[in-house]
Amino acid sequence: MKTNNPFVISGYISSDYFCNRELETEKIISALKNERNITLLSLRRIGKTGIIKHVFNQLSATENYRLLYLDILPTTCLSDFVREFGKAILVEEQNRSGNYLKKITKLISGIRGKLTFNQLTGIPELEIDYKKPHETEKDVATICQYLEEQDSRYIIAIDEFQQIVNYPEKNVEALLRTQIQQHNSINFIFSGSNKHILSSMFSQYGRPFYQSSDIMNLGRISKNIYSEFIVNHFAKYKRSIEIELVNEVLDDYDCYTFYVQYIFNQIFATQITKITHELVVEIAQQILVEREYIYYNYKNLLTNNQFALMKAIAKEWKVERPNSGEFIKKYNLIQASSVNVSLKSLINKDMIYEDGNGYQVYDLFFSKWLARL
Ligand SMILES: Nc1ncnc2c1ncn2[C@@H]1O[C@H](COP(=O)(O)OP(=O)(O)O)[C@@H](O)[C@H]1O
Ligand SMILES: [Mg+2]
Repeated sequence: MKTNNPFVISGYISSDYFCNRELETEKIISALKNERNITLLSLRRIGKTGIIKHVFNQLSATENYRLLYLDILPTTCLSDFVREFGKAILVEEQNRSGNYLKKITKLISGIRGKLTFNQLTGIPELEIDYKKPHETEKDVATICQYLEEQDSRYIIAIDEFQQIVNYPEKNVEALLRTQIQQHNSINFIFSGSNKHILSSMFSQYGRPFYQSSDIMNLGRISKNIYSEFIVNHFAKYKRSIEIELVNEVLDDYDCYTFYVQYIFNQIFATQITKITHELVVEIAQQILVEREYIYYNYKNLLTNNQFALMKAIAKEWKVERPNSGEFIKKYNLIQASSVNVSLKSLINKDMIYEDGNGYQVYDLFFSKWLARL
């Protein structure tokens, strides 16, 4: 499939528009083929969902797996989880065969589900009757049983898996682990942005998922590979951009996948044949202006101390010790204890992150905007 813009900023199209990740893809596929589960960890917007889709794309071309993808970010309880699980099966069955409806009717009613048909597209959708009395735990078992009966190997990707720790039901981890363990024909890719929650889930002795999966920290795409990808895509459309200029952008945004894709998407959209430094600066500026209303809104949602701290961190881009006397003095912040309180709250809100080398504003466009204030 060909796109109008080769710098894709949502979803996965094909390997042509997906930069590298060869080693990581190979490692994930090898784990799965050897019947090991694998967990992907990274900051948001680095490329976890992308690589899951890429792995599925490769597997569907070469192997005989059945592939289910569940994004559980919007789920807040076990019933939501069951609905997403059911939906993933529905989608997979739909893509496979013409005669799937009859086949899955029993499963759907077994989990209190109802198939409805979208009036515009005619595509079946799944609704769950939450009012019917039920035991959600049994629903999970019913689904796993269904998969077992298919007599095929399944790979199930559960994206934003850390979400399950917020479910109000007790022992969700144990329940899922027990179900999962019973089925040798299923392997999992778990993925999530909350490193802290997920890594303790898999590495803390006594937790149900302890050592049940390999762990992969998904890093940045390396600069030389990314710049080549970018230059080549321009060249394919008979347009030119100097590699030095691309490298400047990559440095400026720490090779952070989403921001890089977004900027080059916008630069590409100009249709200009020869990309200049001035154009890149203008586009970057324009992006911040377009987002300004969101950033003013953030300002209203934060306390003055929190906002002052965000601004100070943004001005440095990355700060090793934001509670040091030197930093506090330089930016007229109040005192270390108050900085610590703000910092904790900003980390909880995912406005700031810490990666072992220092603290940074999570949204890099916001960081650039703050630094100019
Ligand atoms: N290897 C890649 N090459 C090109 N674009 C990518 C790549 N990986 C991710 N992206 C793009 O970067 C953005 C963020 O990736 P995503 O997979 O959604 O991140 P995450 O799941 O870690 O939050 C998306 O717009 C996606 O299309
Ligand atoms: Mg994702």
